[in-house]
Amino acid sequence: MDTIQQLEQEFSQKLSDLTPETAEMLRIEYLGRKGKITQLLHRIGELPPEERKGYGQSVNALKQKVEAALTEHSSQSGDTRSQKSNIDITLPGVEPEQGSCHPITQTIEEFIRVFQRMGFEIVDGREVETEKYNFTALNIPIDHPARDAFDTFYTEKGHLLRSQTSTVQVRVMENRKPPLRIIAPGRVYRPDEIDASHSSMFHQVEGFMVDEKITFADLKGVLRLFLTEIFGKEVKIRFRPHFFPFTEPSVEVDMMWVRKQITSGGTVQKSQWLEILGAGQIHPNVFKAAGYPKGKYRGFAFGLGVERMAMLRLGINDIRYFYENNLDFLSQF
Ligand code: DAH
Repeated sequence: MDTIQQLEQEFSQKLSDLTPETAEMLRIEYLGRKGKITQLLHRIGELPPEERKGYGQSVNALKQKVEAALTEHSSQSGDTRSQKSNIDITLPGVEPEQGSCHPITQTIEEFIRVFQRMGFEIVDGREVETEKYNFTALNIPIDHPARDAFDTFYTEKGHLLRSQTSTVQVRVMENRKPPLRIIAPGRVYRPDEIDASHSSMFHQVEGFMVDEKITFADLKGVLRLFLTEIFGKEVKIRFRPHFFPFTEPSVEVDMMWVRKQITSGGTVQKSQWLEILGAGQIHPNVFKAAGYPKGKYRGFAFGLGVERMAMLRLGINDIRYFYENNLDFLSQF
């Protein structure tokens, strides 16, 4: 009887610091085929018959206690295990990553919204073009030195990658009659050495307006409105005479760019004129290439570089950031 009590005490102690791993060992130690309790039961035959009943009852009582204790223990630890494998509602949720449009796309879309409000229509051009639309129809003959400025990549079969979105002008005019108010964004290609401000592929937005009485004043009005919408009412712009083969007269539009510069003497404001786009009155030879009757229509056209404008607005100092697919950079916009 003493042994039974001893065993019970010993078991309770072991039970108190039981882990799921040691529970099975404890079960074998007490209830296994050679377990301590099993052995006690076997020894019942050694006792005088009158003691057997009381002894048997005590051992069986202990056996039941141990079984019950071990079952309870395993169901408790089983609970924690099943909790682990189920959903833990206290964990923070998995937040899906939210994407956004590339800063170049965002810039183009913003420009388009402004022109759409002025009644312009969006047209898609082709990136693979012919000599005609990239050069000759735009009044750039084969041997004209202006070709160098718009040089590009050529395929073996006589196609080329357009080096300017101006290609869209004659493509549209060939098929449609004025009035036209068109905006054509897209990629252009030039065999430029790649550096902080040059890339062999970049984006332009072309715009043009053709009707019977479109004047240079319309050009100035449209561009000024566009630039104030994008850069704010205070924007200072100037129209500077320039040369483009497909416009006459031609201008480049500059914008006053004010930058704060921190120097040892404090913050100084630096301002400079920056060229932001080319424009002009559409050349009669372009209308001729489109098959329009001589002298019937007038119009203006302009073309701007998207990267340049995006860099100014977003404070980016290297064009290559746009093309590296670096999410640390892109996710800022
Ligand atoms: N295509 C010119 C360029 O890539 C930009 C340009 C200048 C477009 C004058 C025009 C324009 O439509 O009238 O540099």
